[in-house]
Amino acid sequence: MGEDAMLLNGQDPAAIARAAQALADGALVALPTETVYGLGARADSDAAVAQIFAAKGRPADHPLIVHVLDVADAERFAQDLPPVARRLMQAFWPGPLTVIVPRAAGMAAAAAGGQGSIGLRCPAHPVARALLAEARKLGVLGVAAPSANRFGRVSPTSAQHVLSEFEPGLLVLDGGDCEVGIESSIVDCSRGHPVLLRPGVLTEAEIAAVAGEPLAPRDAAAPRASGTLAAHYAPSAVVRLLAPAELQAALSKETPHALAVYSRTVAVPQGLLQRVMPRHARAAAQELFAVLRALDAQGAREIWIETPPADAAWDGVRDRLSRAAAAFSDSAS
Ligand code: TXA
Ligand code: MG
Repeated sequence: MGEDAMLLNGQDPAAIARAAQALADGALVALPTETVYGLGARADSDAAVAQIFAAKGRPADHPLIVHVLDVADAERFAQDLPPVARRLMQAFWPGPLTVIVPRAAGMAAAAAGGQGSIGLRCPAHPVARALLAEARKLGVLGVAAPSANRFGRVSPTSAQHVLSEFEPGLLVLDGGDCEVGIESSIVDCSRGHPVLLRPGVLTEAEIAAVAGEPLAPRDAAAPRASGTLAAHYAPSAVVRLLAPAELQAALSKETPHALAVYSRTVAVPQGLLQRVMPRHARAAAQELFAVLRALDAQGAREIWIETPPADAAWDGVRDRLSRAAAAFSDSAS
């Protein structure tokens, strides 16, 4: 890396200070979180936030998540914290949970995409926390950050993924490979009973146990969330999800050319581009997006993926895979 390299070492306090100053000045900084990398800007600046939408190619009415250091800072963005939201924050923060609450008037309106609610998340990644703490000293109370990928594409789980998505010159804080690997669970607490808008690695049962009530299913009135669009998280290759028996049958017929297979259990012919999916949901989530990107980069035209197990631990992985596959199916709308 030359002197102009925009990749900063997240372990280096001087790099954290530089990135914090950039945020305070209204510039964009890509930062690691435990889930995926985010493309951050200070949440209280409409101009800074506008750069996020422009860089991502994301419609400006799609709300962003605001990242905060703790529950006390979260409260500044909330009109009031519903008791269920507070319980969830206290139980799962810092960690891979975003809570949507009524937004305080005048706070982070552009970041919230003009909605009356706001999504708040307190990340656990030490580099994210160091950055938030430094930026806070400079008057930055929250950092709006969507996943640091172009709209509709696979979220980045390494600094290299981020560099490959954007123009040179973006400051990228390197915090290594993300541990969780898929985006946070999103629970909407802004409209009464809590609703799970996006599954992550926390299971619905774990969240419901803390909420003290079952999570209501998403309905048509649920706020728009780009991560909840049917076709999302898509690599360039066509993705097909197949049950193990279907996958085995298809493999016995197809010519194995420009095809990649991501399977836990099916015996895959030699010579075929392939990766083995971990048997544990957390491990599969951790590497999922990196695998999709790697297979893309290796020139796979189609990626055939064995459907994950049916149990709840796999909800987040199953959700991302079905969206990646929906991008190419007739049912995608
Ligand atoms: O793990 C994560 O959540 C990552 C890291 C960087 O924190 N962030 C992330 O952001 O996935 P993004 O923007 O790619 O996805 C956030 C989702 C979007 O689908 C957005 O529409 C939804 O959260 N969202 C944010 N604020 C909302 C609100 N007030 N109402 C409804 N949906 C909201
Ligand atoms: Mg995203």
